[in-house]
Amino acid sequence: MNIFITGGTGFIGTPLVERLAKDRTNKLLVLSRRSQPRQPRVTYLRGDLDDIGRWKGQLMRFKPTVAVHLAWEGIPDYSAPTSIKNLTASLRLLDVLAGAGCKKVICAGSSWEKGFQAPRAEQRPPERTLAFVAAKQALHELGLAMARERNVSFSWARLMFVYGPGQKTSSLIPYLIACAQKNQRPELKNPGAKNDFIYVADVAEALAAIIKKGQPDTTYEIGSGALTTVRDVVRLVFKTYGVPLPAAALKRQPPSASFSGVRADPAVIRGLGWRPKTSLQAGIKKMVDSYASN
Ligand SMILES: NC(=O)c1ccc[n+]([C@@H]2O[C@H](COP(=O)([O-])OP(=O)(O)OC[C@H]3O[C@@H](n4cnc5c(N)ncnc54)[C@H](OP(=O)(O)O)[C@@H]3O)[C@@H](O)[C@H]2O)c1
Repeated sequence: MNIFITGGTGFIGTPLVERLAKDRTNKLLVLSRRSQPRQPRVTYLRGDLDDIGRWKGQLMRFKPTVAVHLAWEGIPDYSAPTSIKNLTASLRLLDVLAGAGCKKVICAGSSWEKGFQAPRAEQRPPERTLAFVAAKQALHELGLAMARERNVSFSWARLMFVYGPGQKTSSLIPYLIACAQKNQRPELKNPGAKNDFIYVADVAEALAAIIKKGQPDTTYEIGSGALTTVRDVVRLVFKTYGVPLPAAALKRQPPSASFSGVRADPAVIRGLGWRPKTSLQAGIKKMVDSYASN
């Protein structure tokens, strides 16, 4: 299979490229704004999503059969200008992919879409009217419509709270690991907030299953299907390090405006034979080990 990947150098894309490159029948073309080291079955295409005209010819010559679009510039900048920029570049990419004869496209969505389901804008809590969420939803809807018109299969991979090696250091689990390493009390906005945590290698496996067997017009929610509180994650990280948790760390605090309590309904992705293999405990242990070896 000829697979074109955007975001293949990022936190989620890196293990996906590694996973797909193991299959000798795959040829991968991976977009990146930076030059990348060579590896078997992977060609890096130097280019920016904002400037497709410059590298469109190489994409056409590659003749992608499948495309996975993960790139999203500027995270954690969820502002309107950045979100609109990403949406515009993504829609242009979908148009170019259809023109290149690509028959299957998979785009990455976010769990936050699920916390944003009130039918009318005025009914939504103001903290949830994030431009980022609106842009992802618009990409989902317009991507589906464009794909139908161009006879392309379009799948939406709605990712829950992904964690694992390579995650941004400001994210929850890397931050807690840094606190445990220094035996420092973590500052938590809302220890009672719940998330559906899913290990990054499991997400790569799920995306590989969608590439192989995913159906058109389908949303795949990728998560464990279970909710875990931030408080329990803190306990797991400190326990893995074997350091005592400062008593005041988990004290009750006023509810925050952050999103919480969104979990995947993994029924559809399970239909492709996928199951998460890494428990939260095992995933945190792998992260701690990877930090120790670096
Ligand atoms: N991380 C999560 O927990 C999570 C949860 C839900 C959904 N998602 C979604 O999953 C996707 C991947 O997230 P991630 O955390 O892996 O992102 P990331 O680590 O921030 O990586 C971003 C990737 O996008 C590429 N990119 C950014 N701007 C680009 C541009 N203008 N042109 C070309 N490439 C560009 C980067 O490539 P170069 O720097 O090499 O150019 C990099 O590979 C995103 O769509 C995100 O919304 C993530």
